Amino acid sequence: MQQIMLMCRPGFETEAGQELMDSAAACGLFGYFQPIRNAGLVRFTLGGPESAFELMQRIPLGELVFVRDWFLVIGDCPLPARDRVGAVIEFLRGADWQGSLASRLETRLTETNEDRDLGNFARKWVAPLSRGLREAGLLAQDSDSAKGDRLELLLLDFETAVVGLSLADNRSPFPQGIPRLRLPASAPSRSALKLEEAWKVFIPEDRYLDYLGGGRKAVDLGAAPGGWTWQLVQQGMMVTAVDNGPMNPELMATGHVEHVRADGYAWRPKRAVDWMVCDIVDKPRKTARLALDWVGGKLCRYTVFNLKLPMKKRYEEWLICRDILLQGLAEAELNCRLRARHLYHDREEITCFIERLD
Ligand SMILES: C[S@@+](CC[C@H](N)C(=O)[O-])C[C@H]1O[C@@H](n2cnc3c(N)ncnc32)[C@H](O)[C@@H]1O
Repeated sequence: MQQIMLMCRPGFETEAGQELMDSAAACGLFGYFQPIRNAGLVRFTLGGPESAFELMQRIPLGELVFVRDWFLVIGDCPLPARDRVGAVIEFLRGADWQGSLASRLETRLTETNEDRDLGNFARKWVAPLSRGLREAGLLAQDSDSAKGDRLELLLLDFETAVVGLSLADNRSPFPQGIPRLRLPASAPSRSALKLEEAWKVFIPEDRYLDYLGGGRKAVDLGAAPGGWTWQLVQQGMMVTAVDNGPMNPELMATGHVEHVRADGYAWRPKRAVDWMVCDIVDKPRKTARLALDWVGGKLCRYTVFNLKLPMKKRYEEWLICRDILLQGLAEAELNCRLRARHLYHDREEITCFIERLD
């Protein structure tokens, strides 16, 4: 397999392609990409003798920012209406597909799909297709495969599926790379979902209590009306909310929040806190330097902050911010973990996470 299908936020295809091209080149692998414009899809093709599998073995998905999810491409399979299951069987046989490679399959759609019939078809097709492929020896029995690699069928429309293989240890844990989160009625703003998604993406599921357990102290810069503060309070934290704007009254009534009307870039706590989060929309380099100042000065152990990307050169701006952060952390001689991701709930921004490991 020489090709990888990348999924990203629609409109960010070039950033995702460029990012993987650079990451691959850094590992000595060369390829090119073809965006499927505004569909949130990019085909990445390796130019050299190495396989796409080798690329996936060298680059963990979690190291990429704009690539939300990915799978190895086997090929494009035409789906004639009279027998779509038969067409997939024929296609996989023609591709020398080994039935032992996967025991499950998933159907996917583009994020921009608005055809509800195609959505219903994709959902209902999984059972008959799985049965057909198992009977044809093209899908292993569940018990045969402990690895959990998965056959993927991305339905571009009713006539074409891009067929591929996703690797259990190097794909998004969420269906289609998108965590489905529900906004509780008491949350003061939809932004609350961004912080929840950030935690889901950056914190290992089995270590939530180590990072978020009750009694911790947090600072929320640019807090109003209070979606992020609300999430921190839900975790049992005491929060200082810094914003000149008004905070949600019900949230203030919890007694867990102190509202400080001040400039979030200038304000500093008297004592170090566990978390600093920042959702201020401003120049990304300014916010990167702010985060660095907090972590470098040991004012917080963990931070989640957004970098608002400019209209043009969005990927380049991230690289500049990344350099500012990595260089600053190295100069401060701190052992830190930096992660960044274009979350599903992010629009024109990306979300970063830094954790001090000392
Ligand atoms: C995107 S909103 C934050 C939404 C918030 N995270 C939530 O979940 O409800 C950005 C906020 O940053 C505030 N802001 C902008 N510049 C600021 C600054 N220099 N210092 C503090 N707050 C600032 C704005 O007043 C606004 O309330």
